[in-house]
Amino acid sequence: QQFWLRGHVPEDPVEYKEEQGTWHVYGYQEAVHVLSDTAVFSSHTNRKVPDTEEGTEGNLLQLDPPEHRKLRNLVSHAFTPKVVANLEPRIAELTHELLDAAAGRDHLELVNDLAYPLPVIVIAELLGVPSSDRELFKNWVDGMFENTQEFSLKENSADQESARKATLEETENFKRYLGEHAADRRRNPREDLLGKLVEAEVDGERLTDTQIVNFAMVLLIAGHITTTMLLGNTIVCLDNHPEQMARVRADRALVPSAIEESLRYFTPFTALARITDSEVSLAGHTIPEDEMLLIWIGAANRDPRQFTDPGTYDIGRDPNPHMAFGRGIHFCVGAPLARLEGRVALNILLDRYPTLHTDPQKPAEFLPSPYMAGVRSLPMFT
Ligand code: HEM
Repeated sequence: QQFWLRGHVPEDPVEYKEEQGTWHVYGYQEAVHVLSDTAVFSSHTNRKVPDTEEGTEGNLLQLDPPEHRKLRNLVSHAFTPKVVANLEPRIAELTHELLDAAAGRDHLELVNDLAYPLPVIVIAELLGVPSSDRELFKNWVDGMFENTQEFSLKENSADQESARKATLEETENFKRYLGEHAADRRRNPREDLLGKLVEAEVDGERLTDTQIVNFAMVLLIAGHITTTMLLGNTIVCLDNHPEQMARVRADRALVPSAIEESLRYFTPFTALARITDSEVSLAGHTIPEDEMLLIWIGAANRDPRQFTDPGTYDIGRDPNPHMAFGRGIHFCVGAPLARLEGRVALNILLDRYPTLHTDPQKPAEFLPSPYMAGVRSLPMFT
């Protein structure tokens, strides 16, 4: 088992790994400190990674204040809680459609049948991609993930270099497609997210097409596989804890806190990166300027100094201040959407399948990535 799944954080909440030249933060309070102090701990990590700089413009995740606030305000205008809440009936409809398509088989493959396609269709519809292009859109997204070792849901045999090239190519085609749509919205205003991003204005400034396209890419990168993992991991946790499964079946009011506890216990996005803008002291260590840090939010979510019995999966845990959606100014914009998808999908699964359980003959397969924790295949008996 990987350390973020174990019931403790390492002795020292901060560690320097010489061979990587990277600082690792495991403690909860230390993680909160780093994520809150944006003057010292910058999100602009692309400056240390070759060939990634051109994706920075419009990429919220990479921006520091004051640029971050401007773009985040623009985006929040278009990504309001009301927009998200209005999606509930459509998410329910899509969930039923996807499960109907799998009906008649003795096994449901929870990832392929539901958890992988649902979030990507929701993001496509939110952006305003025409339904006739849904397959095209999904193929690009598949292509982007399939070619990256870390996040691929399939066994990957391609060698690193050709995989990198294929990913870049898919990404360029996809960006062109999104750019054409953004340009179209300038001529023909529409009420979808792309239309709103084109219209959005803060201090008299509007987003450029490049910023809009990069933002749409960030939505997919940050919002697709993470949500796939949330859905799969929630089912894995409940299946592994039959008493908790029985509890949520008996009391559906526990569905939202079951989602939160699954995010804490089996955190999808395990580590966030930051880079120091100046020398700083953290938990007794002196970290020089321009050093990379990995903040292991999956480990922080198991910090016994913060959570009582962190290794216990308890769907009634209250309070549950987990950090699965980050903390501070970069707190996940899509959290309300991810929570909604989790709640709707879990309720429908419980409604439709009164005895949903895994098959001991066909065990779940876990992603090999250290940065993305979850299942890439989850066969279930319905
Ligand atoms: C930011 C996790 C779903 C869009 C973040 C961050 C985390 C996170 C940890 C903070 C990154 C940082 O501080 O460097 C998750 C998880 C999800 C999820 C675990 C599912 C369970 C979504 C969805 C969307 C989305 C559905 C959109 C459709 C974003 C965006 C940011 C972000 C745009 C950047 C915010 C900023 O930098 O201001 N997410 N996310 N996420 N997430 Fe999510």
